[in-house]
Amino acid sequence: MILTGYFFAPFCKIELHISARRRLVPKSNLTTEFRKAILPRELRALMAFDRKAFPRSDLFDAAAWKFYDSYWMIVDGVKVGCCAFEKHVDFQEDIREDGENPRRKGSLYISSTAILPKFQGQGFGALLKSWEITYARSHGFTRIVTNTRSGNLAMIRLNRKFGFRVIRTTPNYYSDPADATMVMELRLPKKRT
Ligand SMILES: CC(C)(COP(=O)(O)OP(=O)(O)OC[C@H]1O[C@@H](n2cnc3c(N)ncnc32)[C@H](O)[C@@H]1OP(=O)(O)O)[C@@H](O)C(=O)NCCC(=O)NCCS
Repeated sequence: MILTGYFFAPFCKIELHISARRRLVPKSNLTTEFRKAILPRELRALMAFDRKAFPRSDLFDAAAWKFYDSYWMIVDGVKVGCCAFEKHVDFQEDIREDGENPRRKGSLYISSTAILPKFQGQGFGALLKSWEITYARSHGFTRIVTNTRSGNLAMIRLNRKFGFRVIRTTPNYYSDPADATMVMELRLPKKRT
């Protein structure tokens, strides 16, 4: 672009250069890092993030954050996204009397995925979801299971976009407001050895 401008009109060269910078700088210069949250040091940060992303009734307590493996998505030094996993379990607490999630080798349960409200709608959710899938595949998981409010269209569409399918919808799982939970899974091909 710059060479074209140079040969045909120096003025044009400047214009192209500026417009290219305007278009490219915000996207291409972002530094994105995914890293495990450090506990107990980052417990308060995880809970503060949760309060910004979720309604009060859906917040995890400290015990839950200590229990899950949580990961930050950090963009240009800012904690933009966060997700939480439990390894080698199925999600069944919605249908079992004891409310337990039984062991299931090869199944990764994603208990939380969130982007801070001010960064939503810019593709960061898709970036985090694709990292979750990459994480699962690279760690040898053959399935991901997750659940969300049946009214959470953003999460449901995001999951569908990446190939998740609905395996069941269980009524009255959430309160305040009452809602069903939609359980979704993604089958992953076995890692080649
Ligand atoms: C769900 C969430 C992670 C999406 O993050 P995001 O950064 O806004 O998503 P993106 O901008 O990357 O959009 C990716 C896809 O998600 C879906 N999506 C995102 N926002 C949507 C909305 N408001 N309505 C419908 N679909 C939406 C779309 O399929 C979109 O793809 P498209 O743009 O090609 O249509 C975000 O809304 C969020 O953090 N919500 C609060 C936390 C939460 O409810 N988590 C789920 C329960 S664990």
